[in-house]
Amino acid sequence: MPQFDRAWWKEAVVYQIYPRSFNDSNGDGVGDIPGIVEKLDYLDELGVDVVWLNPVYESPGVDNGYDIADYRSINERYGTMADWEELLAGLHERDMRLIMDLVVNHTSDEHEWFQRSRSSPDSEYRDYYIWREGRSLGEAGVSAAEFDPADYHLPEGVYELPPNDWESFFGGSAWTYDEETGEWYLHLFDEKQPDLNWQNEKVREAIYEMMEWWLQKGIDGFRMDVINLISKPEGLPNGEDSDAIVRGADQFVNGPNVHEYISEMHDRVISDYDAMTVGEMAEVSVEEAKKFGEDGMSMVFNFDHLRLDFGPEGGRWSKGEWTLDELRDTLTEWQKGLEGDGWNSLHFNNHDEPRMVSRFGNDEEYRRESAKLLATLLLTLKGTPFMYQGEEIGMQNYPFESLTEVRDVDTLNNVRVARQSGRLESEEEVLDLVQYRSRDNARTPMQWHDDEHAGFTEGDPWMPVNPNYTEVNVAAARRDERSVRRYYRHLLSARDEHDVFVYGDYVLHTTDHDRVWAYSRVTPDAELFVVLNVSSATTTYAPPANVVGEAEFLVGNYNTPLGRINDTLDLRPWEARVYLLDEPVTA
Ligand code: NOJ
Repeated sequence: MPQFDRAWWKEAVVYQIYPRSFNDSNGDGVGDIPGIVEKLDYLDELGVDVVWLNPVYESPGVDNGYDIADYRSINERYGTMADWEELLAGLHERDMRLIMDLVVNHTSDEHEWFQRSRSSPDSEYRDYYIWREGRSLGEAGVSAAEFDPADYHLPEGVYELPPNDWESFFGGSAWTYDEETGEWYLHLFDEKQPDLNWQNEKVREAIYEMMEWWLQKGIDGFRMDVINLISKPEGLPNGEDSDAIVRGADQFVNGPNVHEYISEMHDRVISDYDAMTVGEMAEVSVEEAKKFGEDGMSMVFNFDHLRLDFGPEGGRWSKGEWTLDELRDTLTEWQKGLEGDGWNSLHFNNHDEPRMVSRFGNDEEYRRESAKLLATLLLTLKGTPFMYQGEEIGMQNYPFESLTEVRDVDTLNNVRVARQSGRLESEEEVLDLVQYRSRDNARTPMQWHDDEHAGFTEGDPWMPVNPNYTEVNVAAARRDERSVRRYYRHLLSARDEHDVFVYGDYVLHTTDHDRVWAYSRVTPDAELFVVLNVSSATTTYAPPANVVGEAEFLVGNYNTPLGRINDTLDLRPWEARVYLLDEPVTA
């Protein structure tokens, strides 16, 4: 038996639950924790190992829980601490684990720390956040004619600019003027999400204590929200890179002390537990990811592959075309880059992204086939796969017909800013982009069956349900032998059975085929051969000579009765096949 550098979180498949949209147990239209408890057997049967729960803490809910007002209590919308404990116990009883969302780049402005901080420049909490004086127009080199106080929501009589030119990820300046004390505070997200000051040791201590408190309650790790934004450079200099994802990102992404903070967090808290940590990184290179590994992080989320469809101007808020070449190159770079020296996370969906089948698949003619192909990719690349609720039934984007159907603060703010600047003009353009990009595509309620509101709630759902729920739902998937869900179950159990899914090295076979992506996963005593036709056309592909021959057909999304890999493969639209070879043949 080969010796692998084993870890439970390498062998696990994570299932992400966005509690607001998963299952509502009390009819108020919002999903809740008892609703999740009702579905524990469902998760167990699916075959996932870990649940990542999006924030359920006390929060005013401006960013659906990513604005935390109290880190140690459960938002009553979602239930009680006792409900949460039942959830944890229920998962553990079924041999599943729980990781919680750790949101410590910022808090809610309703957090007690911020309330105290904003009360006076002399407050002992002032320095928990990032407060600065504004700049005069002269200092910023802006003429009075160019200056519009409305851009900064300034009260009458105040004519100054924010301390620097950084922009919020949700559109507009990253600073808000506080009338009470005449200073500005930094918020890289909504103005109701002020950034914590990590330079302040007291802040770090308070966070470590809170993390310890949750670990003591028995959780199995953390998903760390935008964790590489926590260190801001001395002097908060203006952004220098006009191509940055938002103005200033070149200054605050992977800031100067970020590794010091993460390794301190690891030494102080995480290292005492067999915990899994995954750091969400606004932007991160392979080299940087390795350093986070050295700091003690299990893995990071990078988003390189989820940027391939950004337009040339306007970044995320414009549309571009992705190509197979780019997708394959990007994921291959990460596969190879972290080989032997780090660990990948794998993901195509989450609560911030449009649905993968609408984005990388063909959600019209080949919804089912392309969802399965993407599942194959997710579960056969090397790394820890993260599924997102609804992915297992091939849920797709929502056909927004009006902005009144949008709830997401990010979408609404960015649309407002793009309209103000004239970048988006017609209603049609706006809706087209919202349909394609909005985070709300991922947040429509989970589709359980074909009754009213897809069985998500007995009340009025907080978000509209996708009208395709009559066909795309869990109950229908259970009845259907060819469902996406069956396919996931099949792949998940194959993954449990064969180490090569987890520990095999990735070897790419097709470097420049414009439809086919073929690769092997190789250990000293086994090999998986994966071939994917990433297109809606029929394609022929000749695999490398040494994989041709006898092989066990493990999983595929079409009928393929062969016990061998032929020298020519005729692949149907979005066809995916996974073969197991008796022994490794690819070096
Ligand atoms: C990333 C989270 O995934 C997203 O939902 C949230 O809006 C931002 N971080 C801010 O916390």
